[in-house]
Order: sequence, then C-alpha cells, then structure tokens
Amino acid sequence: MNRDIQLHDLTFVPFISTAEIQDTVSVLAKRIDEDYAGRNPLLLIVLNGAFIFAADLVRKISIPIRLDFIKVSSYKGTQSSGQMQEHLPWQSALEGQDIIIVEDIVDTGNTLQYLLRKLRDQHPRSVEVACLLKKPEVYTYSDEIRYEGMSIPNKFVVGYGLDYNGLGRDLDSIYQKKEE
Ligand code: IMP
Ligand code: MG
Repeated sequence: MNRDIQLHDLTFVPFISTAEIQDTVSVLAKRIDEDYAGRNPLLLIVLNGAFIFAADLVRKISIPIRLDFIKVSSYKGTQSSGQMQEHLPWQSALEGQDIIIVEDIVDTGNTLQYLLRKLRDQHPRSVEVACLLKKPEVYTYSDEIRYEGMSIPNKFVVGYGLDYNGLGRDLDSIYQKKEE
C-alpha cells in the first residue's frame, strides 16, 4: 500500500511513516504544554505547507492556545528561490504575546529569518519556532529552533502538507524524491 508515487515528472519513495510523524508531533505538543503552562501562546501557522502539521499539533496540545495564519512562499519546484513573497499577513496584535511560529520544514532558513525579523519588530514577549522537519546541512543561520521534530538529509520531500509544484500536500505520510 505504501509504494512509490509519481508527481509531475518526479518519482517519490516512502520516507517517514504516518505513525512516526504522529509520534513526533505528540512529543512536540507535550513539550509545548510543559513550557507554556499558565500562558496562552499564539501559534502563527505558516501556510500553505504547515497546515496539516499545525492541525495535528494544535489538537495534541492541551493548554489553551490562540492561532493565526500567515502565508509566505519562496519555493519554485524543488529549489528555494530566496525571494520571499507574502500573500497573507497575520491579523493578530503581537505586542507582549508569546509567539510560536509553526513551519512544516526549515530548509535554508530564509523564510524563518524573514518572519523572525518582521515579528520581532512588533515587540512580542517571546518568539520560538516549531517545525516538523529540518535540513541541517543547508540551514545557514544561528537561530536555535526550540521545537524541532526530525532532522532529515538535504533531499526534497513531499506529503503531509509539503508539495512539489502543487501536488502531494494531501499525502498522509512523507515521501522523498527518488534518485535517478
Ligand atoms: P527555506 O526558506 O529555505 O527554509 O524554505 C522553507 C520553505 O520551503 C518551507 O516552508 C517549505 O514550504 C519549502 N520547502 C523546503 N524544503 C522543502 C521540501 O523538501 N519539500 C517541499 N517544500 C519544501
Ligand atoms: Mg512552508
């Protein structure tokens, strides 16, 4: 049932199972519960990719939270373009808030840096980052990511919110690009 899939011109092979993803999200939710006990953090969910991760994460977190969405993109095909485009700005007032940025995957870190700079301008009380996946080989910044699900090699992945030119977001598990 879990076999190779074809999206546009590329083939992808199974990489991270649904069970493994869910275990990872549960661990992150528990840490957030403990760290933010007595507070109501504002989770800023980065669309589109983080929508499934965020949906699972917020339902596993037990403390009362707020959430809002922001939509940015920098990816074209399987490469980061480095050029940030903002499509949907957040609506919440950030001053004095405990913010957690929720990202699907941190690759070069460009998206994150762009967001961190913008958020810090608004004087939140704290800003942390939660991501499901991180590619440490290509991450170019020194900012620590407090809630990091899994480190993966620098290979293009799809599924569980992540796409290849629009396809693959709906997959329940994560697939990796097949090497030719
Ligand atoms: P960064 O700005 O280079 O860190 O890239 C971050 C964004 O690029 C992520 O939020 C994803 O939307 C997208 N991205 C990075 N790596 C992948 C991947 O392997 N598959 C699909 N999208 C990716
Ligand atoms: Mg993203």
